[in-house]
Amino acid sequence: MKIAVLPGDGIGPEIVGEAIKVLDTLRRDGLRVEMETAPIGGAGFDAAGDPLPEATLALARQADAVLLGAVGGPKYDALPRDKRPEQGLLRIRQALGVFANLRPAIVYPELAAASSLKPELVAGLDLMILRELTGDIYFGQPRGQRRLDDGQREGFDTMKYSESEIRRIGRAGFDIARGRAKKLCSVDKANVLDTSILWRQVMEELARDFPDVVLTHMYVDNAAMQLVRAPRQFDVMVTGNMFGDILSDEASMLTGSIGMLPSASLDEHGKGLYEPIHGSAPDIAGKGVANPLATILSVAMLLRHTGRNETFAARIEAAVRDVLAAGLRTPDIAQPGEPVIGTVRMGDAVVSALARQKP
Ligand code: IPM
Ligand code: MG
Repeated sequence: MKIAVLPGDGIGPEIVGEAIKVLDTLRRDGLRVEMETAPIGGAGFDAAGDPLPEATLALARQADAVLLGAVGGPKYDALPRDKRPEQGLLRIRQALGVFANLRPAIVYPELAAASSLKPELVAGLDLMILRELTGDIYFGQPRGQRRLDDGQREGFDTMKYSESEIRRIGRAGFDIARGRAKKLCSVDKANVLDTSILWRQVMEELARDFPDVVLTHMYVDNAAMQLVRAPRQFDVMVTGNMFGDILSDEASMLTGSIGMLPSASLDEHGKGLYEPIHGSAPDIAGKGVANPLATILSVAMLLRHTGRNETFAARIEAAVRDVLAAGLRTPDIAQPGEPVIGTVRMGDAVVSALARQKP
């Protein structure tokens, strides 16, 4: 398996460095991977004047999987939109056709107290948000700014989903639910948006092929409320690009730390782009305090979904649980007064936990 490693900006290089250590450890146990690194985001702009340099995209296309750190930083805020780091991310998602974005929100028992909700509301939470990633108002045309007759400017974007786009993400949602508690909640705004009316119709049509999965529908505003009221009512949520962007940030906080959550973005053939769901955290970049666990857990997802190697994926997840159980904490997941360690020591701890596992 060939992995394109794109560290990106901010804390990206630090956390990806720890993920590479984990891959190197598994390599000694027989995992066969090749890695090649390339710049993306602000680093891409610095290297080649483009947040997604051609060579980076070429590498990503020929690789089996992409491991990405994070993009963005204040240094690039003033650039025109097409040069901004986020464009690198949006373009690579679209170019690779990775439409199915899996964003699990899992509460580790050791971290339940770090949640902003009462521990008894979130204990045992295991929610999967499936976000459509290559359509919707993020990519819909036309978009732009125009001058109105009265002289003022108007900004506009286009929300749209074709039937086939809805069907393939819906199918992915049913498939995932089938492998879990068999409950799929489709989130839309069908009381207002035509796009959502079609979305709901297609979900209902698909449901006939999955009689074993219970499909429900929820408006996005209610879903946002239910997530903080009673998050354990959900098993799998499937939704469009923009609603999923918002709800997955909300869900991440239920778990106590956005620094813990990995993600996978898959195309139709199992090729994937794997990244932590947090951003580049420019405020702590270079300080060696970032939590590398979300990136390390993204490697586990990579090995599971693209590598189809459940053994190695489960070993990484077990090693992460071991270091949490041993009380090791980066600042973002520590309770006030608890001792903390930095990025490299957290990575080292996962590596030692892997080495201690019995074959
Ligand atoms: C995410 C991010 C991106 C998105 C930004 C950085 C473009 O918020 O991955 O959720 O909106 O998709
Ligand atoms: Mg987001």
